[in-house]
Amino acid sequence: MKLPNYKEAAKREKKDYKTVRYELDQNFSDKYSGKTYFLKTYGCQMNERDSETIKAMLEELGFHEVDDYKNADLVLLNTCSIRENAHNKAFGMLGRLKHQKEQNKDLIIGLCGCMAQEQGVVDSILNDYKFVNFVFGTHNMHRLPVILNEAVTKQKQEIEVFAKEEDLIEEMPVKRDNDYKAFVNIIYGCDKFCTYCIVPYTRGGQRSRKKEDILKEIEELVSLGYKEITLLGQNVNAYGKDLYEEYSLGELLEDTSKTNIPRIRFMTSHPWDFTDKMVEILEKYPNIMPSVHLPVQSGSSKVLKLMGRKYTRESYLELFHKLKKSVPNISISTDIIVGFPSEEEEDFEETLSLVKECKFDNAFTFIFSPRENTPAAKLEDKTSLEEKERRLHKLNELVNGYFLENNKKLVDQNVIVLTEGKSEKKNDYYYGYNEYNKLVNFKSDKDIKPGELVSVKIVDAKTWSLDGEANE
Ligand code: 5AD
Ligand code: SF4
Repeated sequence: MKLPNYKEAAKREKKDYKTVRYELDQNFSDKYSGKTYFLKTYGCQMNERDSETIKAMLEELGFHEVDDYKNADLVLLNTCSIRENAHNKAFGMLGRLKHQKEQNKDLIIGLCGCMAQEQGVVDSILNDYKFVNFVFGTHNMHRLPVILNEAVTKQKQEIEVFAKEEDLIEEMPVKRDNDYKAFVNIIYGCDKFCTYCIVPYTRGGQRSRKKEDILKEIEELVSLGYKEITLLGQNVNAYGKDLYEEYSLGELLEDTSKTNIPRIRFMTSHPWDFTDKMVEILEKYPNIMPSVHLPVQSGSSKVLKLMGRKYTRESYLELFHKLKKSVPNISISTDIIVGFPSEEEEDFEETLSLVKECKFDNAFTFIFSPRENTPAAKLEDKTSLEEKERRLHKLNELVNGYFLENNKKLVDQNVIVLTEGKSEKKNDYYYGYNEYNKLVNFKSDKDIKPGELVSVKIVDAKTWSLDGEANE
């Protein structure tokens, strides 16, 4: 048994991570032929991308996917730790699975992802969720075939969680959810240690994939006809710092642009690492989409300091305006937390005034959720939940107004939409996302396939979407 350990997880050392190529032990190949699996994914794009690899690994073992856990021989939960409600959802599902296992004692249940890296969660799995057959963490996903085999053959709970990140594993299999849009990991982990955030503990130290491995993956996607890739990482703007003297996200974006993939996105960007070079690159390459996710978290420099964000309200605004000025029509989205410990009414007012100045194109808003072992969870918090909910509501009303205002500016303009599918409600209507990552519903008399790029004239704007007509 290997267990998570926060002390180990918090350590950062300068280390050259080895790159190791994944290879399936042929003894496991098709071992579970005829068996079915159900994989449930919680959380962010990083988890979604991991799940694409987990699915491919399970299919190499012979499993095939079903879309109802009640029909599965194996149920695996790929979990998220970011806020309390992500926890609650996974534990709720475990409750349902306990019931399911009472009906089918052969059901195999596994848990992986970020929650598996939490000491408290694994303690409770050991004590109160004995029906869970196996657990693995974010650093040893490649060990799934071995861990599953141990759990099945030894008929006892198998828990293997690496407390710290180890080698970088390349060439793991992948079963992509989509055949024209793909996620490409470029950097794992995070060294920022924002005081509210559990990610540096669950995802470990910052380590970049080698540029050759990334570009090879992208070139393969191009040759398969992919139209859009998103370079992924907890903080993509730190790309390369641990590997190269002079090769960072800017250079990687330039090289990616030269593969001629029609659309490139990247997320998430920490404002602290966002260089002038990055702004220039966004301006220069037309296949890098004019859309940036730039979490601000708070508009109060006092709160930002307590959050350990390493920038101020003023420096965020400076970067924001630089981007707006340099990249025509750029859309900027953000994340905001309300109710951080010691956030007073005047701090919240500063967040509102920052939002009024930035008029974000999209914003994900949250109430602070204390996470086990993080510094912010230990801060005194005098604000009532009721008051936090009031702040969230007020903030949401404000941000939503700007979504509509920004969308209205696109009316009568032509945009390019990457088609996702056909509307189920309206004949001759399709939907997809434009350059600015906005949902567009559009009419066309042609038969348009998912993955097609279509020029669309916007005719109407709503808060969450745009309506348009294809330029035939
Ligand atoms: N409480 C509330 N929101 C959080 N986020 C991260 N940690 C917490 C927390 N403890 C939010 C941040 C981050 C987004 C992914 O989730 O806004 O940018
Ligand atoms: Fe993603 Fe963070 Fe949730 Fe893990 S804790 S799934 S890294 S959002």
